Parts: sequence; structure tokens; C-alpha cells
Amino acid sequence: MSASAEIKKTVMVALGVCLVCSVLVSVAAVGLSEIQEFNKKQDKLKNILIAGGLYEEGISIEDVYNENIKAIYVDMETGEIIEEKFDAEILSKDTYNVKDVAADPNYGMPIPSEIDIAQVRRMPKYMLVYEVMSGEDVDKIILPVYGYGLWSTMYGFIALGNDLQTVKGITFYEHGETPGLGGEIDNPNWQGIWEGKKALDENLNVVLEVIKGQVDQTSSKANSQIDGLSGSTITTRGLDAMVEFWLGENGYGPFLNKFRKDGENV
Ligand SMILES: Cc1cc2nc3c(=O)[nH]c(=O)nc-3n(C[C@H](O)[C@H](O)[C@H](O)COP(=O)(O)O)c2cc1C
Repeated sequence: MSASAEIKKTVMVALGVCLVCSVLVSVAAVGLSEIQEFNKKQDKLKNILIAGGLYEEGISIEDVYNENIKAIYVDMETGEIIEEKFDAEILSKDTYNVKDVAADPNYGMPIPSEIDIAQVRRMPKYMLVYEVMSGEDVDKIILPVYGYGLWSTMYGFIALGNDLQTVKGITFYEHGETPGLGGEIDNPNWQGIWEGKKALDENLNVVLEVIKGQVDQTSSKANSQIDGLSGSTITTRGLDAMVEFWLGENGYGPFLNKFRKDGENV
């Protein structure tokens, strides 16, 4: 065989291998995308349950969610709860994704840069908030929150007790911070520090801080401070800003005030 014929054959074999591999990868990607979507949704539901203190190993996530959680829309500008369903597919309670809704031209809105302390640029007009029910009463509310860390936007949930002041839990379901550094936001021990901390005072002003270093337990502020993540000052600052933004007047403030007033009227 001549040298040129051999080169031709080598190229043909290489091209053939590439073609077969690309077909295999495409088929796998398409075939697995549904499973990935399902797993993503399950993981989010699991995080809602963790934040609400309802998760245990081995439970049926969907059953526990359906039995205990009521999802409601909150108009983020007025704080009103919206009872009726929206027709728009993007707002479907089953598939609601904060990131997609915030980016949507109709159902997301820009956050003016001077108030965007969490560096997230946009937020949903109608946020899906989760109530943990105890019979007819709301026991906790689980608020979706997100804020920029060092490398990424961290998406999670913070749960407040029905006093609207005490943190009941925090979880994150998506972020790109460094494992072992900013990624320690996933560490259950660190998340456990949040439980019982005062996030808001009696007038619903944000008092919770995520500080650099460890909380001085003898300080009068200890009950509203969270240890920062070591070696991760930037992630820590991002978490602090995230809490201040979402629990404050430009985030859930109007909703929390309405929720409290409505509760008083009941
Ligand atoms: C590979 C690498 C990954 C890092 N990941 C994070 C991170 O996820 N979050 C963070 O705040 N800092 C991270 N840092 C550290 C920051 O670059 C910065 O040095 C640090 O936030 C300074 O805070 P410190 O005073 O706590 O050290 C990382 C550094 C390196 C080299």
C-alpha cells in the first residue's frame, strides 16, 4: 500500500471512530436529559424539606412534600400572596425555577444596581414561597434566596419560624463555590449553626450577619451572628449580603410585613 493510501485509511478510521463516538454521546445526552431533569427536581424538593426540617433518609420526598408543604406565589413588589394559578408555563408550581423566572422578560424584573447588594441583577416578579403547614396553621415559611459568592450565584432556601424572626434552616441546591472552601455552605454542621438564630428583630428589620471568623459567644449579638467560612471571606460576604437583601425591604420585607398583619387579623 502506498504512503498516501495508508494516510487516507488512517484518516477514514479516525473519522469513523469520531462519528460513532459522537452519535453515542448524543444518544446518551438526549436519553439521560430526562433523568437529569427528574433528579434535579427531586434534589430541589429534598432541599426544601431539609430547610423545613422535614427530611429524613429513606422517606418518599414527594409524599412528605405533598403532605406538609403548600406553595404560594408572592408578588415581590407588593408582598401580596396570589392565590390563583398563572397560565404561563414558566410559573407552573411543578417546574418553577427561580433562575429562569428571574431571566424571563415578562415574569422577571431587574434589580437597580444601587440596591443589588447580593449581586443577582434580576428577580422574579412572582416568587414561589413554601409554607410548612401544621394542620391549618403555617408552622414555617421557606423562602428561596440567592446571592453571588466568589465564583458563582448560590441558590438556596432559608426557613423562618412563624414568628418570622427565627431561622429554622438553610440549604443550597446549586452553586459553584470551591469544595472545602466556599463549598462548605453545603456542610450540614455549618448549616446547623443557623437554626435558632434571630434573623429579624420584632419590627422585622434584618439583624442576622454572617461574619468573618467565629462568633464570640459572649457577645450580645451572638444570637444573630453566623460563623463565616474559613479561607472563604468572599463567599462569606456574599452570604451576608444575600441575607440582608432577601430578608430586607427590597426582598421579602413587604411580604413578611403583610404576612404578619394578616396573621394578626385572623
Ligand atoms: C483555588 C482557590 C479557590 C478558592 N475558592 C474560594 C471560595 O470558594 N470562596 C472564597 O471566599 N474564597 C476562595 N478562595 C480564596 C479567595 O481567593 C481569597 O483569597 C479569600 O476569599 C480571602 O479570604 P480569607 O481572608 O478568608 O483567606 C479560593 C482561593 C483559591 C486559590
